[in-house]
Amino acid sequence: MSHILLIIGGGIAAYKSLELIRQLSKAGHKVTPVMTESAGQFVTPLSVSALAGKKVHEALFDLTSEAEMGHIRLSRVADLVVVAPATADMMAKMAQGRASDLASTLLLATDTPVLIAPAMNVRMWDHPATRRNLATLKADGIAVVGPDEGEMACGEYGPGRMSEPAAILAAIEAALLPADRLLSGRHVLVTSGPTHEPIDPVRYIANRSSGAQGAAIATALLRLGARVTFVTGPASVPPPEGAEIVAVETAAEMLAAVEAALPADAAIFAAAVADWRVTQASGRKIKKQAGALPGLSLAENPDILARVAGMAVGRPDLVVGFAAETDDVVAHATAKRARKGCDWIVANDVSPGTGIMGGTENAVTLITEEGAENWPRMAKRAVAERLAGRVAEVLAAKNGTASGRRV
Ligand code: CTP
Repeated sequence: MSHILLIIGGGIAAYKSLELIRQLSKAGHKVTPVMTESAGQFVTPLSVSALAGKKVHEALFDLTSEAEMGHIRLSRVADLVVVAPATADMMAKMAQGRASDLASTLLLATDTPVLIAPAMNVRMWDHPATRRNLATLKADGIAVVGPDEGEMACGEYGPGRMSEPAAILAAIEAALLPADRLLSGRHVLVTSGPTHEPIDPVRYIANRSSGAQGAAIATALLRLGARVTFVTGPASVPPPEGAEIVAVETAAEMLAAVEAALPADAAIFAAAVADWRVTQASGRKIKKQAGALPGLSLAENPDILARVAGMAVGRPDLVVGFAAETDDVVAHATAKRARKGCDWIVANDVSPGTGIMGGTENAVTLITEEGAENWPRMAKRAVAERLAGRVAEVLAAKNGTASGRRV
């Protein structure tokens, strides 16, 4: 359990901070809330304290608080200070090192890492002054999540919307990882995208997959310092920058590339591998013939995940599979975990109504040896960050690295 000092700034996005508190508490974190004076125009201290289960700190000179806990101490008891929403004014104060109210004083007095979730009108976000302040804050080592792009409360469109609570939670959990839990020196293998199994030079069998979730996972792992080998089928999103990219077409090629990339400390199989291939793909385009259908004979593709999970020697410490299900998600995914012999299954419900397939969001259930964990619906990027954090935690508990063992 971590202790978060949450500073709520005065912006319309403050209402999302209520949901953030709920999600933080649900994830087992303790929240001490602080509100700026203008935050009180958007959410009431009563709702904030009810959700946090703690008193809200609002004023710099609060005699009871000063007696119980000075504001300097308040700024230092937390594992992480989070500012959400971080308004343009709050960012300016932070960049200048001002201490004009409780929130800015805490931020100046703290020696704890700080994460901000900016939220403001798009013109304010794009303003050179805010750009300057942002650069200063980043140079000071402050972590930033968002803002997102989209329609804003003021009716304009563009970057400036505060990130969704689930994305902020993922960024908080990533920021809380101590340095020795990071993935530097670790090799992680990620498969992604669909495979194309040729029928002839112009036709193929494939599963639907944009490759977005796999690319986001690789990016999150890279951000934690891992060396990432990214084996990808023909995806529609660009591959992650900084990974070692191996582009393949078919399942057989994907298996060969995966075997060549081992050993790895962890392997994450996010690819949507086609289950079957045509046994004898035609070298020439099959011409249509009136009334006659081409007789395609199919063979089952190798199960790459099951192969790697079942390796007697050189198996990665953590093998993670994905499951796209349309019904009975937990039951099917739990059975799949056992059948394939992997450590975790990241299961998602891809029923047509969910909009997950091809969309930017995902709602996953993580199936581990301990059972099923439902994660709230969040951006695929946030799912990736949370998963990467969990991978880092598991690998931190193991000694040595895959490449180390090879020597
Ligand atoms: N997978 C793989 N190689 C295959 C097929 C699947 O590595 N030939 C991996 C996927 O990358 C994913 C997981 O296995 O991590 C789940 O794939 P899925 O196609 O859902 O598994 P199936 O056993 O085909 O399940 P179902 O019965 O639902 O089709």
